[in-house]
Amino acid sequence: MEQEKVIVIDFGGQYNQLVARRVRECNVYCEIYSYRTALEEIKAMKPKGIILTGGPNSCYEEGAPTYQRELFELGIPVLGLCYGAQLMMHILGGRVESAPVREYGKTEVLLDKASSLFERVKETTVCWMSHFDYISSPAPGFAVTAHTADCPVAAAEDENRKLYAIQFHPEVLHTKEGTKILSNFVKSICGCKGDWRMDHFVEKSIREIRERVGNGKVLCALSGGVDSSVAAVMLSKAIGSQLTCVFVDHGLLRKNEGDEVEAVFGPQGNYELNFIRVNARERFYVKLAGVKEPERKRKIIGEEFIRVFEEEAKKIGSVDFLVQGTIYPDVVESGLGGESAVIKSHHNVGGLPDCVDFKEIIEPLRNLFKDEVRKAGIELGIPKYLVFRQPFPGPGLGVRIVGDVTADKVRMVQDADAIFREELEAAGLDQTIGQYFAALTDMRSVGVMGDERTYDYAVALRAVNTVDFMTAEAAEIPFGVLQKVMGRIINEVGGVNRVLYDLTSKPPGTIEFE
Ligand code: XMP
Repeated sequence: MEQEKVIVIDFGGQYNQLVARRVRECNVYCEIYSYRTALEEIKAMKPKGIILTGGPNSCYEEGAPTYQRELFELGIPVLGLCYGAQLMMHILGGRVESAPVREYGKTEVLLDKASSLFERVKETTVCWMSHFDYISSPAPGFAVTAHTADCPVAAAEDENRKLYAIQFHPEVLHTKEGTKILSNFVKSICGCKGDWRMDHFVEKSIREIRERVGNGKVLCALSGGVDSSVAAVMLSKAIGSQLTCVFVDHGLLRKNEGDEVEAVFGPQGNYELNFIRVNARERFYVKLAGVKEPERKRKIIGEEFIRVFEEEAKKIGSVDFLVQGTIYPDVVESGLGGESAVIKSHHNVGGLPDCVDFKEIIEPLRNLFKDEVRKAGIELGIPKYLVFRQPFPGPGLGVRIVGDVTADKVRMVQDADAIFREELEAAGLDQTIGQYFAALTDMRSVGVMGDERTYDYAVALRAVNTVDFMTAEAAEIPFGVLQKVMGRIINEVGGVNRVLYDLTSKPPGTIEFE
């Protein structure tokens, strides 16, 4: 049975990934492709529907991203959003021009006419607008279905050809009934059943991996983070002991984390696989000795990681497959999926340790968003505390110790961090704060403890609320909780005599300290 699919054609809009996520939230599978993707390729995918995203250009300008007219003649429903809506009109004979009033932000939209796109949507609803250009007259065959105070064509449609254009952004949560609108498009208009379900995906992936791997040997670098854990468990369920997971403990993990990973994936754990833990902390500490500059620390940790992994892989000998925990945003952000600029050349996509002797890569999570990876993890029965782990940087505590790294400083930051986490959990705040941790500053200051003068380090506590980790604000932690954490850290962590709470937002700060 072929899986029903909706395709998002990306014109460079900032919300392109959101469109795909919202569609998947309707249980309809969705993928993003650049507007440069050939029509033949799109047709071959047999999409049930096509969505054109927003974008930063003016569609009437020379060289602006466009698409061939035949896209609208395939008989497949097309929904254009913002730039996508304007482009649809422009190509089909409507008029798009620079708007006398730029609309930006939450805007009231009024429905003019019954439309299957707006089924169950209130006659006056709030939407998110962000445009300079506007549709001054719709293309022949189109009826206007909604307007705003400044925008005569907030939505238009040609029901016969199943072409729909909306000026606003239903994918943004500020559009109150946006999900309903997208659901109406994919379900009522495109006729998708909405049977993309995580349990099906997991079962199907396991089956496919089993077929692909056959009797082959598979190697996986396991970090204990969400992505590599979910990938490893999926592989283990598919091929059991043909899988070997190498877990490099670089000595820069949170307190007890190495043992926790071993408890789950090691011989006493729940899964059938070969687990190799490499205790490499001394090697990392030696390499890091005296190094203060954050980027150099990152580089050293990254390179040493590859070296350790390579040595282990050599012991195992040649393998047939290497597992990568690549997820969909990595693919899109690497410029491989949609139209976004290469934001980061993600080490997971394409670039691989060439030192490891393998034939093919397996990326079982390549099509999933982060929240979907977590759902897959739950489906696979992975313990919740692993599935809902906070993000943790690859270089670990190496970038949470400002200045040079020593074993003693690692101990201080691990202990302080464990206390902070314990107390936030005890106060019931752990689920509401996006990311929180302790860092060790490079500052030593004079204190007094008992009757003694101290000259010790300051720990900084960081807790932020964030949706996407691109921007963040310091979390408001009750003062009593902070005081308790401070008291415990000073009393329990030797070498620390001061505790600070970091109030900085991102921007201008970053979430991590380095
Ligand atoms: P920043 O500090 O850039 O952090 O505001 C944003 C998010 O990314 C994580 N982070 C990293 N993750 N390697 C990683 O794998 C790194 O070098 C790194 N630096 C930051 C950080 O924990 C936060 O979630």
